Amino acid sequence: MSTLVVVGVQWGDEGKGKVVDLLAREADVIVRFQGGNNAGHTLVVGGKKTIVRLIPSGVLHAGKVCVIGNGVVVDPQVLVEEIDTLQQQGCLLDPAFLKISETAHLIMPYHKAIDLARERLRGEGRIGTTGRGIGPTYEDKMARVGVRFIDLLDEKVFSEKLAHNLQEKNIYLGSILKEQALDYGQIFDGYCRLRERLAQYVIDTSRYLHQEISRGRKVLFEGAQGTMLDVDHGTYPFVTSSNTVSGAVCAGAGVAPQQIHNVIGISKTYTTRVGSGPFPTELFGPEGEKLRHDGGEFGSVTGRPRRCGWFDAVVVRTAARLNGLNSLALTKIDVLSGFPTLRICTGYDYQGRHYDEMPASIQVLEGLTPIYEELPGWSERLTDLRSLDALPANARRYVERIEQLIGVPVKMISVGAGREETILIRPSFF
Ligand code: GDP
Ligand code: IMO
Ligand code: MG
Repeated sequence: MSTLVVVGVQWGDEGKGKVVDLLAREADVIVRFQGGNNAGHTLVVGGKKTIVRLIPSGVLHAGKVCVIGNGVVVDPQVLVEEIDTLQQQGCLLDPAFLKISETAHLIMPYHKAIDLARERLRGEGRIGTTGRGIGPTYEDKMARVGVRFIDLLDEKVFSEKLAHNLQEKNIYLGSILKEQALDYGQIFDGYCRLRERLAQYVIDTSRYLHQEISRGRKVLFEGAQGTMLDVDHGTYPFVTSSNTVSGAVCAGAGVAPQQIHNVIGISKTYTTRVGSGPFPTELFGPEGEKLRHDGGEFGSVTGRPRRCGWFDAVVVRTAARLNGLNSLALTKIDVLSGFPTLRICTGYDYQGRHYDEMPASIQVLEGLTPIYEELPGWSERLTDLRSLDALPANARRYVERIEQLIGVPVKMISVGAGREETILIRPSFF
């Protein structure tokens, strides 16, 4: 079996970057297949922190190929900055180790301007987007007016598409959103300069991946965001604008379903969310403060404080089914040390009706009562532990209860942000 998909199963920031960096040791190729630089994936190696947004989290390992698939929306300016930073650290010096899909769509300056202006106008009703232009870029892709890398490579095509789009966008920006119009020449020149830097990486990544998988090479697909932010299956409209479930690998990387062999879900041992939208197990008092403080729960992209709450088995159970998880990695269990008791949400009650999976209605999500189970906590520090047996009995019981409630085996428990701060329960993931 040669492919593995890693997905977040909550509302993002589950620790996907950490897990992908660790699993990348076993992989040959690491692929992003959706989202854009709304993602912020943190890698901590030898005490040094690196945050990647567009480049797959395998990049710190020498000799691994990083692929940005067609389903990703790319801000070329951010990508160039990320490449520069990584090259200063001695990574990606050989261009053969980064490949960008020729059909990935570009985030344009008007997408960012529209995203930010719409959020401002929404006021209290805002989604709380990352303001990176993600939604407007996917909208244009679906409206068939998007600009792809292959278009950028042909100066004439690019100039025509830009001129046509900008005419429409400037009317929308000016008359509806009350924003300044953007200048064609400035965008054109800036993107042509970025093209000079990026053209060398652009290929047909779908064919490349097919070849690699056929040769038996190990390919790791790295999800961004989380299942509850999926545009179809998440807490709509408080979601991102892409499909974040494992099935999105097929469309977003151009690989066939038979080529997906394993799916691992990443979940925190509690729950967090950034931005607006329903969050049934959210904590507003000192317990939420403790999670935010001990877990360092501040957004890696925007620095916003993350909302924190108890582990929600309804969320992860729904995600397990949607993604076809065959294993689970639990992260940040070290953060739970010091709570006398811990709560796990096992189901929801809404006006006498029981839910064991996520309801679709925002009204139900906002009005429901979570059903909790209480478990005893522990006070020991867990970060130095490397085996399941070494965990305090109550921590083991907590993990076992999650495993039971979700019905998926836990293969990895993360006890700290560092690559090595991990309990590997099963040695191999592919
Ligand atoms: P991602 O978007 O899913 O990759 O997650 P982020 O990187 O945005 O957020 C996860 C945060 O938790 C980062 O700061 C990680 O360094 C950190 N982290 C990951 N795993 C652990 C863990 O097991 N314990 C602790 N304390 N921190 C962790
Ligand atoms: P990673 O990959 C957490 C959230 C935003 C907002 C909503 C829509 O690091 O887990 P968008 O800019 O995508 O239109 O914002 O989605 N969001 C994330 N939350 N982690 C992420 O990525 C996120 N990417 C988007 O906060 O609520
Ligand atoms: Mg993140």
